[in-house]
Amino acid sequence: MQLRVTNLLVGSCRSFKVYHSTYSSKVSQKCSSLIYQSNGDPEKVVELIESTLSKPSKSEVMVRMLAATINPADMNMIQGIYPIKPPLPAVGGNEGVGEILMVGSDVKDFQVGDRVLSIIPGWGTWRTHANSRADQFIKISKDLPVVSAATLSVNPCTAYRMLKDFVKLEKGDVIIQNGANSAVGQAVIQIAAELQVRTINIVRNRPDLSKLVDHLNSLGATHVLTDDLLRSPEVKEILEDLPKPKLGLNTVGGKSAADLLKHMEAGSTLVTYGGMSKQPLMVPTGLLIFNDVKLSGFWMSRWTAENMRSQEQRNMIQWLTDLVMAGKLKPPKHEVISFSEFKMGIHKTMQPFTGKKQILLMNGLDGSAVDPSSEKSDPPKT
Ligand SMILES: NC(=O)c1ccc[n+]([C@@H]2O[C@H](COP(=O)([O-])OP(=O)(O)OC[C@H]3O[C@@H](n4cnc5c(N)ncnc54)[C@H](OP(=O)(O)O)[C@@H]3O)[C@@H](O)[C@H]2O)c1
Repeated sequence: MQLRVTNLLVGSCRSFKVYHSTYSSKVSQKCSSLIYQSNGDPEKVVELIESTLSKPSKSEVMVRMLAATINPADMNMIQGIYPIKPPLPAVGGNEGVGEILMVGSDVKDFQVGDRVLSIIPGWGTWRTHANSRADQFIKISKDLPVVSAATLSVNPCTAYRMLKDFVKLEKGDVIIQNGANSAVGQAVIQIAAELQVRTINIVRNRPDLSKLVDHLNSLGATHVLTDDLLRSPEVKEILEDLPKPKLGLNTVGGKSAADLLKHMEAGSTLVTYGGMSKQPLMVPTGLLIFNDVKLSGFWMSRWTAENMRSQEQRNMIQWLTDLVMAGKLKPPKHEVISFSEFKMGIHKTMQPFTGKKQILLMNGLDGSAVDPSSEKSDPPKT
């Protein structure tokens, strides 16, 4: 599916000064953006540029970005291997939160000071300011902590949809997922816990495994197992008290997908939403024939394009917002970095076993001021 994308260096370079309720041609706003002029290695092609924004047109708003996530899909988009290919040069980033600084005269749905998320896949969130059409944003509560807001529109929404749209899950049902420590996986655990659905969570082994297990348990995981343990005979005893999973969520591919399927109920569905191992799915023939397992895929960008500004989209954002406000949906393990540290953030995002989402904080915001769970960045391991 080819989605139309209006990323970019929108806004001309007329000079003007920002103020809040009205504006004049004298207003000017400096803007920093992380852009790529060609597709390639994100560590090499992403650069910081400065520009000056003109005032927003009648149908536009000027947004001051507060924070934005660096996700694996952003890397793929920059590499040019993602189905969404913004016209170049393009601003990186797909997830983030901003605040409305100015509104065009025809804009009725937003006011200065509103917090917004971009609802256009590939919009380009890695910038300090942007002028964009007002209908490219959705309003969110100002009470949401900035990091939670900045990490809401892609991964928790993906988790929510996969738990709602494929299998009718009842209280006490079980799901199984690999990549359980990914941002999506952490959201799956918390949303499932709220729905009283139990989760079997598969992660890769690592030296500090117990810390990871403790973290996922604290989010509400029912079981956290390594992929090695899932393949071992001992797993039978660990899982014997649970009904077999009705739904599997696969972001790894390769043998890991087969491992999930082997533990799933007859007639159940495996939804693939990522391919982190870069290996094709291995599906045992017998499970398709004798267990009637179903294979499906999910892409949040498609869902968003098909449900833009729908009541269902608003309901989802509200439900997730309420969960955050109730303290039941925490942002993924993360560390905050300043805009100028983008190279380190990109580098860490491309490493295995990083375990922490990299979050760019714009405009001099301090992580500890925006989210108590934020960690400051450690130097990259090279
Ligand atoms: N289809 C959609 O709509 C949609 C939406 C959101 C995300 N996604 C996709 O979902 C995936 C996860 O995204 P995210 O933002 O949640 O990621 P993330 O927080 O950056 O986490 C990456 C995950 O991938 C695992 N991983 C990395 N390399 C691996 C490998 N070679 N084999 C097995 N596991 C590996 C990591 O495990 P370790 O800790 O063991 O390295 C970690 O669990 C990405 O592929 C992303 O593109 C898809």
